[in-house]
Amino acid sequence: MKKKIVLTGDRPTGPLHLGHYVGSLRNRLVLQETHDQFIMVADVQALTDNAENPEKVRASVTQVVLDYLAVGIDPTKSTIFIQSMIPEIAELTMFFLNLVTVARLHRNPTVKDEIKQKGYEESIPAGFFMYPVSQAADIAFLKTNIVPVGHDQLPMIEQTNEIIRKFNRLYGDVFVEPEAMVPPALTGRLPGLDGKSKMGKSLGNAIFLGDEADDVTKKIMSMYTDANHLRVEDPGQIEDNAVFMYLDIFGRDQAAVAEMKAHYQRGGLGDVKVKRYLNDELQALLTPIRERRKLFAADIGQVMSILQEGTAKVRERARHTMVQVKQAMKIDYF
Ligand code: TRP
Repeated sequence: MKKKIVLTGDRPTGPLHLGHYVGSLRNRLVLQETHDQFIMVADVQALTDNAENPEKVRASVTQVVLDYLAVGIDPTKSTIFIQSMIPEIAELTMFFLNLVTVARLHRNPTVKDEIKQKGYEESIPAGFFMYPVSQAADIAFLKTNIVPVGHDQLPMIEQTNEIIRKFNRLYGDVFVEPEAMVPPALTGRLPGLDGKSKMGKSLGNAIFLGDEADDVTKKIMSMYTDANHLRVEDPGQIEDNAVFMYLDIFGRDQAAVAEMKAHYQRGGLGDVKVKRYLNDELQALLTPIRERRKLFAADIGQVMSILQEGTAKVRERARHTMVQVKQAMKIDYF
């Protein structure tokens, strides 16, 4: 049976962190065994809000791909490609723009949130404003069946499906309606070191996959716990306690974690002990990743040929789709 096509992607704006690992990389390692998985380095999308920073985007492309390879994304199982090297996506975006209204774009909750976050308000770059349409083209041109996303990206899939339905109704059945695959809330979201917002690069609350061992330890030792847990013998709170949230996710021995939680709540278990335990668990996860990352980083030529091969394969598919699109739209002149 033909495997289903899965597409995921990341905007290259910096190296990836543990939040990415928990929210999507881990899932991609599973999916590459069962699906026809494509992973897009969305540099065009990254440029929609980084037009002044092309160096940052360029450097991040390499960083992100190093992170993929380091965690075990296997280029013989997953196809990694660069968005900007597939000009057919830009072409398709142009046609898709005719199928969506400005009012509909204004209502997209993901874009609304980002506009607020970035303080764009009255000065939204048009390219940024319409990136959901570009993302619809990303998903459509590959005939993607499944898009794994976090909750915040759900409106993107909804809008993609609207555009695809409209295209198919107007011009004929070229595209496939994709399904969103949302990870369970518990496993999909990792709070930052501050325990408050989700882990993010710009918030300064992240552990990066390439962080050196002693930086990881320092970051863990600085983590937010229970502000009222002042003396070891005091009872402590495990709710909203980032260290225990991390242990729920990264603890390999959940029976031991449950025991520590009970001990912490009773009193008599100090923060430093719990943090040392978490440090051991995270070092066990991150050490092999860091080592693999260094091996690949020492051979950037190999990394670039992996990208080039993946991109060439995707470009073939893109050309094929565009022939169908142009026939359907009656713009296949010669
Ligand atoms: N919007 C995604 C992000 O913010 C990146 C992305 C671009 C994407 N195109 C995609 C994800 C297509 C899935 C499918 O990281």
